[in-house]
Amino acid sequence: MSKVKVWDGFVRSFHWLLVIAIATLYFSAEEGMLELHFVAGFFTLALLATRLIWGLIGSKTAKLSSLLHSPVAALKSFTQANHNAGHGAAGSYMVLAFFVLLLVQLVSGLMTSDDILTDGPLVQYVSSDTVDFAGWLHRLNFDILFYAIVLHIVAIVAYRIAGKNLVKPMVTGYSEQVASTATVTKSPLLAFIIFAVCLLIVFTTWGKEPLSYLLN
Ligand code: HEM
Ligand code: HEM
Repeated sequence: MSKVKVWDGFVRSFHWLLVIAIATLYFSAEEGMLELHFVAGFFTLALLATRLIWGLIGSKTAKLSSLLHSPVAALKSFTQANHNAGHGAAGSYMVLAFFVLLLVQLVSGLMTSDDILTDGPLVQYVSSDTVDFAGWLHRLNFDILFYAIVLHIVAIVAYRIAGKNLVKPMVTGYSEQVASTATVTKSPLLAFIIFAVCLLIVFTTWGKEPLSYLLN
């Protein structure tokens, strides 16, 4: 098998920035540092929005359409090694689940209030019942997200024990365990430009206040 580039620079940056952002979101919520929580939340919103756009126009292995596999293919992938570039069939379900969980977490956060001083930016537009529901969902969904992360890490370790190192490609971009040498990645430049634009939008609007609080 030859060495092939499987993950472009944006997908890799997305992954590791997401890990840092979620750790920051958890820590800031636990410590009651809601300005930091909001800044990390808006950062995650820009990150996920870019990843979803890149899922439409980006590299072959970043495409959302490449994540769609039949449940039969997912079951088979537990017994057959995946020598194709990109997520395996079962892994794709995990990735889709992460995207949905993150969207629910972000949207519910925007409508959550700490009932004291700090309101998500959409709180003013919805009823108090919706705010209560969003807060409940924000807490429940985080628990589900947490178990999904544990499962994700257990799966990565299980693959490692079975002889497949998935972490190295997510760090370097390259895999030595792919059968075809066809090019499957694009330059990530456009993705980084889209990310910069998304960051600019969130931090000149909703994110302006908490960011200036943190910087002062
Ligand atoms: C907050 C914790 C984490 C979250 C939310 C998370 C989420 C994700 C997501 C969404 C993907 C898909 C990437 C994409 O296509 O854009 C992914 C892939 C991956 N993650 Fe994580 N991850 C987390 C922690 C970790 C950790 C700690 C490791 C390493 C030990 C890791 C290793 C990987 C690897 C190797 C892949 C690629 C899997 C494959 O080859 O199909 N992740 N993760
Ligand atoms: C993926 C992104 C996010 C994660 C992982 C996350 C995680 C959490 C966690 C773990 C809590 C503590 C829940 C508890 O008390 O048990 C929390 C609380 C909170 N989050 Fe988020 N959050 C995210 C995004 C957001 C966003 C974007 C906003 C709003 C801009 C937000 C607003 C809040 C508020 C206001 C609270 C306090 C609720 C209370 O005091 O009961 N969150 N979040």
